Amino acid sequence: MESNEKKKILIVEDNVEIHNLYREILKRHQYEVEIQEDVSGAIEALKNKSFDLVILDLQLPGKSGMSFFEEIRNTGMAFPPVIVCTGLASIENAVDAMKHGASDFITKPFTIETLLTAVERNIRINEISKKISEIDMIRSILELNKIIISITDIDELCNSVIDLVYNLVKPDAALLYLKDEDTGRFFLRRTKGKSGNINFPIVLSLPDVAEGNVMNYDVFQRTDDNFLEIKLFGKKDVIGILMFHSKEKLFENRDMNILSVFGTQIGIALENARLVQQLQDSYISSIRSLVNSLEAKDAYTKNHSEQVAYYAVAIGKALGLNGNALESLRNAAYLHDIGKLGIKDEIISKRESLSDEEFEIIKKHPLITKEILKPLKIKREEIEACIYHHEKFNGTGYPEGLSGEQIPLMARILAVADALSAMISERPYRKKMEMKHALEELKKNSGKQFDGRVVSALIGIIEGSKEKGEFRDKEIS
Ligand SMILES: [Fe+2]
Repeated sequence: MESNEKKKILIVEDNVEIHNLYREILKRHQYEVEIQEDVSGAIEALKNKSFDLVILDLQLPGKSGMSFFEEIRNTGMAFPPVIVCTGLASIENAVDAMKHGASDFITKPFTIETLLTAVERNIRINEISKKISEIDMIRSILELNKIIISITDIDELCNSVIDLVYNLVKPDAALLYLKDEDTGRFFLRRTKGKSGNINFPIVLSLPDVAEGNVMNYDVFQRTDDNFLEIKLFGKKDVIGILMFHSKEKLFENRDMNILSVFGTQIGIALENARLVQQLQDSYISSIRSLVNSLEAKDAYTKNHSEQVAYYAVAIGKALGLNGNALESLRNAAYLHDIGKLGIKDEIISKRESLSDEEFEIIKKHPLITKEILKPLKIKREEIEACIYHHEKFNGTGYPEGLSGEQIPLMARILAVADALSAMISERPYRKKMEMKHALEELKKNSGKQFDGRVVSALIGIIEGSKEKGEFRDKEIS
């Protein structure tokens, strides 16, 4: 930010006559001047006060002016532009100084004009670069916000947050804790990086966090300078904590400023993701109660959806579906026959074979499912999987007679899982089938009624599990 405050210049020079010259010229031009006679004094002064410019003589008593650069870097502090001033007017010295980090040089004896031009130029450059880094900071925060706000899955969000803050602050280790609603304590959810042998706590309580040196409302730095902790505020309350540790690095004001702004955004994003999760959970539990009410009508179909979901998800995994798609597949498996709620009980629970007319009525259930689900906020692919789970790969199924890959993959998976579940379950009109006979039946219809790829995936799962001795035939109890 631009201000009318006097710019502060640190002069590092041992010659008293030149001290006076600097003072006279620079004070007349509204600069504030502090003089140090050697490198150690200069480093101390920079630790205690912020300067806009350093003018450094290269020939100093004790350590040479050139050692200033190494020493200041060792402190880890950011430092203002340095103009090197030397009587040894050789290009080598100037080049060397620039390589070490000087931003400009002037040679002794200098004119007032040379000095003032160099001072003004370097102070201006410093101001511009500060502004650029402020703009960069705002830009980074906006970019980061865009990323985190678009993520509603809590696990994915935690991964992104820890990656982003780690790259931003560059500590040795970054840790993310999230509040457990029941206990009010904060549990470690993600870490990135390592800090030697330090054992970080798995659980934190809020008073632990609030201790220390309060920097502002939501950013705290512990009294131990190697730790930095940031509270992540949701709309009302602290919902998470970010902790950083660094052996060498001191956390700078820049880190604090970015994190105090960004931390609030992270908190809100985490809270939103939690709400989405809760909504999803309640949505899933209402689906289950709908399905239960359907299956309760008939002892023979009890747990059928549960079993279809089990096999469908296993097949989906084998075919490489990811987390969200598997979730949709599971939901669709629970919902696939919900349309049977709209069909008379006497047809649904009929123990004898169905007449042609009755079968025509049963065939309406996928479209009734569509009507039931339409007003609800259910994903399109979940509804489509339900509508098309009775389509056949060769095009002879219902309701639309789709064939091959026209049938959505999830519907093709449900068709196989549904058929398997029906075959291996007891029915009023027949005994349950052995798993191996059911698989033979599926294989026989592979490429006709069923997608061959889906059938092969299922057989691979069952046979693989058998070999490993972990085969679980989800029997209906
Ligand atoms: Fe069905």
